Amino acid sequence: MADLQLDNVKKRYGALDILHGIDLAVEDGEFVVLVGPSGCGKSTLLRMIAGLETVSDGEIRIGGRRANEVPPQKRNISMVFQSYALFPHMTVKDNITFGPRIRRENAQETEEKLQRAASILNLGAYLDRRPGQLSGGQRQRVAMGRSIVRNPDLFLFDEPLSNLDAKLRVQMRTEIKALHHKFESTIVYVTHDQIEAMTMADRIVVMNGGRIEQVGTPLELYDRPANLFVAGFLGSPAMSFIDGTVSKSGPATSIRLPGGATVPIAETSVPDGAQVMLGIRPEHYQLDPAGPIRLTVDVIEPTGSESHIYGHVEGSEVRAVFRERISVSPGETLQLSVDPAKIHLFDPSTGMRL
Ligand SMILES: Nc1ncnc2c1ncn2[C@@H]1O[C@H](COP(=O)(O)OP(=O)(O)OP(=O)(O)O)[C@@H](O)[C@H]1O
Ligand SMILES: [Mg+2]
Repeated sequence: MADLQLDNVKKRYGALDILHGIDLAVEDGEFVVLVGPSGCGKSTLLRMIAGLETVSDGEIRIGGRRANEVPPQKRNISMVFQSYALFPHMTVKDNITFGPRIRRENAQETEEKLQRAASILNLGAYLDRRPGQLSGGQRQRVAMGRSIVRNPDLFLFDEPLSNLDAKLRVQMRTEIKALHHKFESTIVYVTHDQIEAMTMADRIVVMNGGRIEQVGTPLELYDRPANLFVAGFLGSPAMSFIDGTVSKSGPATSIRLPGGATVPIAETSVPDGAQVMLGIRPEHYQLDPAGPIRLTVDVIEPTGSESHIYGHVEGSEVRAVFRERISVSPGETLQLSVDPAKIHLFDPSTGMRL
């Protein structure tokens, strides 16, 4: 296993700047997830780490050694793609052992590696089948088996679960996480699914437009998003944002909403009268007949375990999630309050956390 360092890594295609200078240190044994909207440069960065794309500027170091000029096959990296890229005419066994056989490794050792991978991935019963005779999840595991037998320094995954149905995705998520614990492998995993990122990562890297917005543990990012982008990207349903003005009268600090309601917040250094954006997670709203926030209901979604309410507060879209079942109809209103400590404040002009 190895650590990975990216120093001011840039990618240009002709005059087009795709990555604007990525700095990231992935520790040996760490599971890092790159997450961000489509087109933000996740796959490009992963392919550069794998050596499948050239580095326009900056340095990539794997295990402390500069890798920029090292060809992909010499990097001892294993990459699993969204399309599993299995050989359709070969059996599972031959697909998994393809690499070692091509490299003419010892047959006994290759067999041992195969058996170990098959037992970890529960593929023992399928070794003689061809990919066409397997389900999507089983094919996915064959692709992982092929990675494992390489004993790579670094595993790279590019959206490996996006072709699977919802249930299988959850199951494979758990399996990959368990695999990571078993091998203590260094993993860089790309997804645009923020639930995948939250549940699997030691640390999440949120990317946007070829830049890193924030790096941290899943809960650090969830609890203290550095800016509006990260705040809105992580969490489902998403955080809602409401405009307001800081009001410091007497000992209490609150936010005055455009309609005049005042929402108490924790003490802040933001000055009286400043325009701010309130950020509130859906699960932090509480039903409170005396609460200052008046939510007009648009849509109610009962999920069984929760009630998801979509509505608006003084023109801003708001989503609230309650553990209890709520009987309310579209057009009706709910009075809500929020624990002041749970309210996030952002600067509406820069988008940064205040
Ligand atoms: N060969 C290329 N030439 C020019 N532009 C490219 C090339 N390959 C990728 N791009 C552009 O680089 C940007 C980043 O692409 P990339 O595939 O890394 O995005 P991504 O974050 O993986 O998105 P997705 O979630 O859709 O897979 C995109 O705007 C894409 O159009
Ligand atoms: Mg991609």
